[in-house]
Amino acid sequence: MKKSISTILKHPTKDNANRSANPPVTRASTILFNSMQEMHQHELKIRKHKKVSHYTYGRYGSTTTIELENILKELEQAYHVFLTGTGFGGIALALMSLCRPGDEILVSDNVYGPTKEISQDLMKQFNVTAKFYNPESFYDLKQKISKKTKMILVENPGSNTFEFQDLRKITQLAKRKKIYSLLDNTWGTPLYLKPLKVGFDMSFCSATKYFSGHSDAMGGSLAVNKKVFKKIMFFYKLSGYRMSADEAYLIIRGLRTLDTRLKQHSDNTRIIINFLKKQKKIKEILYPHNASSKNYKLWKKYYSGATGLLSIVIKSKKRSSVIAFINSLELFGIGYSWGGFESLAILQEIKSTKKDEYLKGRQFYRFKKDEFIVRLHIGLEDPKDLIQDLKKGLRKIK
Ligand SMILES: Cc1ncc(COP(=O)(O)O)c(C=O)c1O
Repeated sequence: MKKSISTILKHPTKDNANRSANPPVTRASTILFNSMQEMHQHELKIRKHKKVSHYTYGRYGSTTTIELENILKELEQAYHVFLTGTGFGGIALALMSLCRPGDEILVSDNVYGPTKEISQDLMKQFNVTAKFYNPESFYDLKQKISKKTKMILVENPGSNTFEFQDLRKITQLAKRKKIYSLLDNTWGTPLYLKPLKVGFDMSFCSATKYFSGHSDAMGGSLAVNKKVFKKIMFFYKLSGYRMSADEAYLIIRGLRTLDTRLKQHSDNTRIIINFLKKQKKIKEILYPHNASSKNYKLWKKYYSGATGLLSIVIKSKKRSSVIAFINSLELFGIGYSWGGFESLAILQEIKSTKKDEYLKGRQFYRFKKDEFIVRLHIGLEDPKDLIQDLKKGLRKIK
């Protein structure tokens, strides 16, 4: 029977031995075999990339991580999914597996801050040069391609400023020029956009966010096509990247409600935005919320939904009053990350220059005087309560 992804997410493998509705958490370094023959046959299967229910040694995974790989393979429609201990590990895995000295990587200027750092600062030490392109100009991307370009790394929408790009144009260009392409799809998740179907070679998600959904686990998922599989597998095995069985279990548990949670995040966000757009102190809402919002068309072209992360641009002469607004919120936590059940708010110091670690080096965002970007994650609380909280807090802005 062909099943929809919502159904598949509700039915991971059961623990038949213990009659439990949930898969077992297999914490294992040593995996036992009945005989040397069985061990050799099993290794042969793995080498031929045949479907296996367990690996030969804990570094390569256990039944729990294989279960998660299989669920994500369905969700991403991927050839294979590599799991890492954090999301960031997934980005490092892609770069370290595919880039070699002398190569260049083209990175969209609005990527998550640490992604910028790894591409710019760490890769430089391996003689790989990062060039950043304007996410709002396909021409800029095109003209920065050289014979040395090995990979195009895109984040859609971009961290904090939420620009959307014309994804198929990028993958078509990458294919023509024989360049690898990767999309950070953490915001949309493969439920709302399947990057491999749009032509990317790699689809990355920080599993820490919506996959886990409960702010208590970390992980990364790098879904790949056949073209890049071997190269990444080579590096994955030798570098020791892995996800623990406990984290994999928590992420499987989170995935079971991914569709339901995302729908609620999305509905709540819509309600909150209806309130926010009437507030005079808010100049702009960076989110594809209606046909006239910036980049709405590009969102609509590729996505079947929108999640709960957005930014608001606040006009104020006093930075301290914007901070007072955030500090006064009772239901929005102040903290990094997002994608969990709870609402969060954070000031993104996009205006500060080189000193700012998080957004350093933004070359193409137009900074305006007296404008501040506050990133909000809209959680699963009752939106009526969130609105009351925001209403009270916004009074602090001068
Ligand atoms: C868009 C995006 N990509 C990647 C990451 C890295 O994920 P992790 O924190 O799981 O390492 C983050 C984390 O905030 C992110 O927001």
